[in-house]
Amino acid sequence: MKIYGEISKVRETVKNWKRKGLTVGFVPTMGYLHEGHKSLIDTARKENDRVVVSIFVNPMQFGPSEDFASYPRDLEKDAKLCEDAGVDLIFHPEADEMYADGFCSYVDMNGLTTELCGKSRPIHFRGVQTVVLKLFHIVTPDRAYFGQKDAQQLAVIKRMVRDLNVDTEIIGCPIIREEDGLAKSSRNTYLSQEERQAALILSRSLKIGKELVDSGETNAAAVKAAITAELETEPLAKIDYVEVVEFNTITPVDTLTGSVLVAIAVYIGKTRLIDNFIATV
Ligand code: PAF
Repeated sequence: MKIYGEISKVRETVKNWKRKGLTVGFVPTMGYLHEGHKSLIDTARKENDRVVVSIFVNPMQFGPSEDFASYPRDLEKDAKLCEDAGVDLIFHPEADEMYADGFCSYVDMNGLTTELCGKSRPIHFRGVQTVVLKLFHIVTPDRAYFGQKDAQQLAVIKRMVRDLNVDTEIIGCPIIREEDGLAKSSRNTYLSQEERQAALILSRSLKIGKELVDSGETNAAAVKAAITAELETEPLAKIDYVEVVEFNTITPVDTLTGSVLVAIAVYIGKTRLIDNFIATV
């Protein structure tokens, strides 16, 4: 397995693979890899001849008061996980390799990014789209893999690729959870023991919402109320949002129909966690 920080080396390697007719799967990450990332890598491994993982904590997608500086990093551990999982190449650039002096071009979107996380993180998706499009231009993957835990991000990337004619297939992969239900996330490491226990309220409240939807409830307000009521039983939880939106467009719905995303963001102490489920009604 190679680890490159230079764009030119990644380009050269991928061009060589493509000349031989090999397909390339890509898993973009910010590192501190866990089972969720591993499941993306495993799927990429099965579906492609070569697998590239990028590890880059992208400053552009963090707001000024967010956790860019404290975001966990451990390249050695990440490299071991990738090596064991059969990754061929890690792209691990420095910020100035990705954003040269005078950088001033961005990818933005009118719809999809204003609801849910876009409300409390107004510059987040512009940063995500910009870096992901840049990574796609560097790696030129046949397929790229994103977790459903960041469901809004998945919808945004799918739309960007469609709108801007990017020749990469976007593949959404299921949420991977701890045994007790907590969705895997690099940010779970911020939680104290007491907060880790309290964080179970996210998956518990969604389970109640899902049971309601499965039993035939199509009123979005009723689903949101049931989830909110359960979240409010946890004193350490502070709700950012509980929303029901159409998955492909991320527009709020009153009635559940088609592919709907039921999504929540909740502060447990200072840590903001997200979770969701997608239902086809
Ligand atoms: O989901 C993430 O880890 C990041 O948002 C991504 C897609 C790697 C872009 O920085």
